[in-house]
This record gives sequence, structure tokens and C-alpha cells, in this order.
Amino acid sequence: MGQQKVTVKDIQKAKTDGRKLVMMTAYDYPFGLMADEAGVDIVLVGDSLGMVVMGLDGTVAVTMENMIHHIQAVMRGCKFAHVVGDMPFMSYNTSVRDAIINAGRLMKEGGCDSVKMEGGVDFAPTVEAIVKAGIPVQGHIGLTPQTASALGGFKMQGKDADAAKKIIDDARALEDAGVFSMIIEAVPAPLAQLVAEAVSIPVIGIGAGADVDGQVLVTHDMIGLFDKFIPKFVKQYTKIRPTIIEAIKAYKQDVLEKTFPGPEHSFSMPADALEQLKKAISE
Ligand code: KIV
Repeated sequence: MGQQKVTVKDIQKAKTDGRKLVMMTAYDYPFGLMADEAGVDIVLVGDSLGMVVMGLDGTVAVTMENMIHHIQAVMRGCKFAHVVGDMPFMSYNTSVRDAIINAGRLMKEGGCDSVKMEGGVDFAPTVEAIVKAGIPVQGHIGLTPQTASALGGFKMQGKDADAAKKIIDDARALEDAGVFSMIIEAVPAPLAQLVAEAVSIPVIGIGAGADVDGQVLVTHDMIGLFDKFIPKFVKQYTKIRPTIIEAIKAYKQDVLEKTFPGPEHSFSMPADALEQLKKAISE
């Protein structure tokens, strides 16, 4: 039997089987293809695209149209990975009705396999309504970048016992609301472990230590394509940016020195056709 699409059930089974889940972000067709070829379980079309692709300072300005455009491109590359589409800021915060309509748009127009929403206890009723509408939802707790300014910036969350307990409450509320998995971002490793133990669905960490059910990283951070700032929790597996700049500089030099294109990159024309053409234009 050939390779199959990763389903919500496969993702949940990974936790029962004790197998770690591997998740990464992608924003376009080539990265969707590469994620599939490398065999990751889950691809997130994150609203982090606002920062690493669109050059914005944060994720707040990202629109539904931006998300749909990028989800469509990733979906053309991903045949096997489960693709999660991120709900942008204010697409689910205004009302439950808006949330269902917008989650539906990401699924119908974008074509993703599930949607992700930031928030805990406060958003549990919204999550429940979207799940009841038949849309699989992934939660996102701890540091929630869309509301980073309300949380005091892009900072670790759950430092003291009260704040940590609130995050465990968030996780439990999301599980009760029906999420199939959740992201936990930028919290102390022992807290993330307690969260993973407190719920029966997979808890996927970013900046949350090793004792969770899987890991996610922003791909442009992980491969050194975006290096404006590098969060403490990012491991750079390569530094691709200088390699790309070197290639562009070499191209520029070749063009200026007239060594590109060479005959091997050019199309030729039959000599008699060329002669005929020259004659025709000189008449
Ligand atoms: O938008 C995103 O890429 C995310 C990850 C940081 C999990 O939400």
C-alpha cells in the first residue's frame, strides 16, 4: 500500500503509541513539497508568514485572504502531511458565527485539513462550535503571538504557579471543547510536561522542552532563512541565507562579466533560417 494522508486519527494515535509528532511551518508550494518529501506529520501554514514572508513586525495584520492564498499553495505541494491552516487575528474573536464562517473559508477555499486557533478557556465555546460544525481544530496556548502585546511581548508564559495553573486550565478546556491536538508555546519545560500529562490529546511544543508529544518550529527560523532575530528555542539546522546571497552575487557577477548565459543556456536557430531572417529585415 502506498503512503497515505496523515489524518486527525493518526495524529491522536501517535500519542497513544508514544511516537513523537514532527510538525513544521510552510507557506508555499516548494516548502509543502519538501515537507512531504522529508516525511513530516503535520505542516502548519502559520500566520507567522506575516513576519517571515511578508516582512511585518507581527502577525496581527495578517488577513484571511493572505492565509487562503498561502494555504492553497502549500496544499498543492502536500499530498501526505496533514495541513493545518492558521486562523488570523480577528477572524474568530468577534463572534462564534464569524469564527465558523472563517474556519469554513480556510477549509473550503484554502483546502486545508484542519484549522488552528490561539486561546484557552475564553475561546473554548468558539472551538466547540467550530468542531460541532465538522471542522477539526488545533488549539494554541502559552505564548499566543496574536495577543503578544496584551501578554507583555514575546515572552515566556506560565512563570509562577498561578500563571502555570491557568495554562493547565486552558489545555483542559480545549480538550473538553474537542480540539484534536494543541500547540504549547514558550513555557517552562516542566509545565509543558504537566500539560501533556493532563490531557489525552497530543501536545506539540515550541519552546516547551522535550517532554511533550511532538515539536513544531517555524521553518524559516530552523533553516536560517529568516535571521532578523532567533528565539532561544530555535535550533538552526542550516544557515541557508548566506548560501542564497552567495548564489545571487555569483549570478550578478556572471551577468556583468558576460559569462552567463553561455551557449549551453541558449537556444540556437538553424543557420539558413537565420540567414533568411537577416535578409528579410535588411530589405
Ligand atoms: O504561526 C505560526 O507559525 C505558529 C507557530 C509558532 C506554532 O503559530
